[in-house]
Amino acid sequence: MRKFRFIDLFCGVGGFHIALESLGGSCVFASDIDLECQKVYQDNFNLEPVGDITKVDEKEIPNHDVLCAGFPCQAFSKAGYRKGVNDPRGTLFYEIIRIAKHHQPKYMILENVRNLAGHDGGNTWKVIRYNLREIGYNVSDEPIIFSPHYLGIPQHRERVFILCKRRDLGELPTFTFNKKTKLESDAFSILQPDNEIDNISDYKLKKRDKSIIDLWNEFTLIVKDELPGFPIWSEWLKELNGADNIQQYPKWKQDFIYKNSNLYGTHKKKIDCWLAKALSNPDFKGAKAKFEWQAGKTAEPNLWNTIMQFRPSGLRAKKPTYYPALVAITQTSIIGLRKRKLTPRECARLQRIPDNYKLHSTDRIAYKQLGNSVNVEVVKLFAKLLIHQD
Ligand SMILES: C[S@@+](CC[C@H](N)C(=O)[O-])C[C@H]1O[C@@H](n2cnc3c(N)ncnc32)[C@H](O)[C@@H]1O
Repeated sequence: MRKFRFIDLFCGVGGFHIALESLGGSCVFASDIDLECQKVYQDNFNLEPVGDITKVDEKEIPNHDVLCAGFPCQAFSKAGYRKGVNDPRGTLFYEIIRIAKHHQPKYMILENVRNLAGHDGGNTWKVIRYNLREIGYNVSDEPIIFSPHYLGIPQHRERVFILCKRRDLGELPTFTFNKKTKLESDAFSILQPDNEIDNISDYKLKKRDKSIIDLWNEFTLIVKDELPGFPIWSEWLKELNGADNIQQYPKWKQDFIYKNSNLYGTHKKKIDCWLAKALSNPDFKGAKAKFEWQAGKTAEPNLWNTIMQFRPSGLRAKKPTYYPALVAITQTSIIGLRKRKLTPRECARLQRIPDNYKLHSTDRIAYKQLGNSVNVEVVKLFAKLLIHQD
């Protein structure tokens, strides 16, 4: 199928649209409830998405060969499985079923978060599979779990992909991909030169964050030979005594507390000195007083050579091979070498959205939209497999 018509449900900024159009598809309908997504979509594709899909009569949607949907993740209860397709709870997944049941597109490509695969002891997946099969589609027994980093794209983003083929068209193609042969990723490959970034100061680290990173960098030099795989909680870098009453904590937490205290015991003098300096910094508190080294063993541990994130669980440092999954909330990755966070354009590159795509002009919204979007190259991989086989 070289020319085909597709619809883009829960379209966001159009990750599916870019992928399918590049394979010969033309989009005949899109929907997203979010006004900012609608604007960006219209601006780029000259197609105005309709709003809330629950308010759209399926008969009003044009005929199409392929239905795409990165549907919002919602819980599916056991009751849903028992009641099957006729369950009136109106979760958004059932909007897909409602539309596909009426239009019977040849193929569907659905995407969701990784957790969907094991959610509710596997029941959620069973509900989805059951409903898709019930309306006439071949669906694999297990969903495909895939991440762009297997393709050499420097983003670790495991997602569930569900491929569906109308039963009268035959068996689903088998997807074979040896994840062990994944290509090497280079985190720096998606970076814009600093001198080509407008408003570079918006992305540069603030002095306060730099000083926190410098502090933790000094810490890594103290413990460099035994950089731990457990989180460092500065409040537990001390000798324990009865008053700490650590039995009150769950087992996993007690374990980390002992490890922190033991590490302190090995480097007492140096850590005392470091702590005195750290605690004199008014910003060294809460999540900033916690640290996770996840960059493995390196010759010279240096935070400024890693990719970092300020997370609610602490400052996390990783090897500069790939970025953690973009998310819709903040926590934008920091490139140590550049002393700045990723720009929206760089986030778009991580989703393989081309450079001529017009991003939302407000960074906060652009980051959110890109964190929600699907990786274009991964969609292409599955769409080629499914649609181009005939
Ligand atoms: C995970 S995002 C999908 C992103 C998209 N695949 C992309 O590449 O950008 C889910 C989208 O569903 C939209 N959404 C949520 N409820 C909706 C509804 N009732 N009708 C239409 N869209 C809805 C959200 O606004 C959000 O943009």
